[in-house]
Amino acid sequence: RRIAVLASGRGSNLQALIDAISAGTLQAELVGVFSDRAEAGALQRARAAGIDPVALDPKAFASRSAFDAELFARIDAARPDLIVCAGYMRLLDARMVDARPGRMINIHPSLLPAFKGLRTHRRALAAGAREHGASVHFVTADLDGGPVVAQARVPVQAGDDETALAARVLAREHPLLLETVRWLVAGRIALHEHHVHLDGRAL
Ligand code: GRF
Repeated sequence: RRIAVLASGRGSNLQALIDAISAGTLQAELVGVFSDRAEAGALQRARAAGIDPVALDPKAFASRSAFDAELFARIDAARPDLIVCAGYMRLLDARMVDARPGRMINIHPSLLPAFKGLRTHRRALAAGAREHGASVHFVTADLDGGPVVAQARVPVQAGDDETALAARVLAREHPLLLETVRWLVAGRIALHEHHVHLDGRAL
């Protein structure tokens, strides 16, 4: 199965996919890495893995839909079966997302539906949450609101600050993303009518 990754930042989730593919523990091919930021660490990781990444500058486009039209034209040219948003920080054009039902996932650093959006670790601490974590969900036009596929939970510990909590969550994100992508490429997970199915049954 062919995987494309969208990333805006350091790219540690991308790296987890690269490492698993090269170790043979993920039966997939990384066919493209796409970014909205030319300085993203993810781009270096892609190059080191032998992939020529695509970085488009939003400022060079007149509108979000013009940017996303070009972005998705480039993605489509790589013919991915699955598109993984791994720290992609830009809103996606709803039409582009809706045109690819069940083919895009995102990893988000909270136990959705709690803490959609940004600064999730800080907000979890401020809310006094006892538990926090990460979610992988199908991408829909509803930001961080698509059907959840899998989650990893971590405890919030006394004395945690944003950095400590983020690190504890990130350590769980990588195996969570890998396992979810394995299920997807094996065809065990699919989206039907806005519901996640595992092995043919609605979750
Ligand atoms: C992760 O915490 C991910 O959940 C969020 O952005 C961060 C990306 O980290 N969407 P990295 O770029 O994969 O290291």
